[in-house]
Amino acid sequence: HRAHIVLDRQAVIAPVRRRTFGSFVEHLGRCVYTGIYEPEHPSANKDGFRMDVVDLVRELGSTTIRYPGGNFVSGFRWEDSIGPRDKRPVRRDLAWHSLESNQIGLDEFAAWLKLTGSELMLAVNLGTRGILSALDLLEYANHPSGTALSDLRIANGTPEPHNIRMWCLGNEMDGPWQTGFLNAEDYGKLAARTASAMKMADKDLELVVCGSSSAGMPTFGDWERTVLEHSFEHVDYISCHAYYQEHDGDLGSFLASALDMDFFIDGVAATVDHVAAKKHSSKKIGISFDEWNVWYQKEHQESDEVNDEWRHAPRQLEDVYSAADAVVVGNLLMTLLKRSDRVTSASLAQLVNVIAPIMTEPGGPAWRQTSFYPFSITSRLAAGEVIRPAIESPTYTTARYGEASVIDAVATVEEDRSALFLVNRGLSQPAQVTVDVRSLGSSRILEALTLADQDVYAKNTLAEPNRVVPHTNPNATMTDGVLTIELPPVSWTAVALH
Ligand code: AHR
Repeated sequence: HRAHIVLDRQAVIAPVRRRTFGSFVEHLGRCVYTGIYEPEHPSANKDGFRMDVVDLVRELGSTTIRYPGGNFVSGFRWEDSIGPRDKRPVRRDLAWHSLESNQIGLDEFAAWLKLTGSELMLAVNLGTRGILSALDLLEYANHPSGTALSDLRIANGTPEPHNIRMWCLGNEMDGPWQTGFLNAEDYGKLAARTASAMKMADKDLELVVCGSSSAGMPTFGDWERTVLEHSFEHVDYISCHAYYQEHDGDLGSFLASALDMDFFIDGVAATVDHVAAKKHSSKKIGISFDEWNVWYQKEHQESDEVNDEWRHAPRQLEDVYSAADAVVVGNLLMTLLKRSDRVTSASLAQLVNVIAPIMTEPGGPAWRQTSFYPFSITSRLAAGEVIRPAIESPTYTTARYGEASVIDAVATVEEDRSALFLVNRGLSQPAQVTVDVRSLGSSRILEALTLADQDVYAKNTLAEPNRVVPHTNPNATMTDGVLTIELPPVSWTAVALH
């Protein structure tokens, strides 16, 4: 295959939003317990946090972290997880059919975020609770002092307010699996009333209303419209969630998953703008793509630990990612960057052990899944403004998403530095790609890293944690402002230029 790309410094889409590199920690399986928190672990700090995991989270470069769910939040009483630990109740978590010890709550999680250097994005429970409990949580979290709940936070050992800016108004409220799910009318009204009350406390909060739990829901589109007809004035973002996997050995379609994400964003943006037009409003509601990843959902329902005994932190949703999965994750992240005009926040779901880039063994090591690399490298290199590339590439036909280009790319530019991200979706052939970067003023390759494997299903495991890692691309050269690079089949690449 051959492809040619032209990068034009003037073709700016939007600034790179640091919140695009968000992630997600849910009280689910071993994400929190034996994931980020394991007091008995040799690397644990005085608060019981695994410092080996903290180091990997920092290396991953995740920015905003959504917490504490997910489906979990719809049965959660936040008051259970504050104050003296020996007084915290054990509860049943109906969403994941397990036990919640409440040993980690808001104050501990906020302390952990300080170690990782990330921002907290907090979800309120609109499944089984409502406005008052959301307001109480807001007072506990953000009010400086001198009220019952802010003083309680101080008495619990957190003198400074958490000052949380982004709040999710529930989670996937359209899903029948959600504890206390609602129809669009009822949820739209509840979200509007909750958002309006929260903004009476603090008008600068950034509130995320639930969009559909996936574009495949029968109510998709109507849900967004109805919910926003009620809540438009009070909210700032609408959420999108999407998970992809290879179905029935159709790797070609799977590698083109980013097309579906792009189409999904188009649909939500159009629906949101339709409501804005009806309301004669110029307000631009942003998209918070606050759950996205590869997730082998069906396979894992079958292989998860059976948990009908109400156990604490069972092994659930512990997908092990392949080289091909990492290429798709890298390409999805490229799409989020390309849509930075509308997608101003996103969360890779999730962070540790549960469909995650980072894995741990209790008492043992922590390691990077294949999907860790495209995320960490993109977070490290993408800066400044996102540039729309003009791509000339051969195409191929996919069963699920129609025609897809073999090569996809996006670039970012900041002053005299730029970064280019590329995928080759070709299954068997390398691609020769030329990239005209003259308008960026770059003349030198700083680094060129490619992630690929002869075996596209190769994975990193406890036994072999470094089976799939990025390597310096040996076939990248720059002559007279034109980069020439060879991309192996089924590969993801990042090139930093100066
Ligand atoms: O990320 C796993 C689950 O997927 C989340 O709890 C839920 O919101 C979604 O369905």
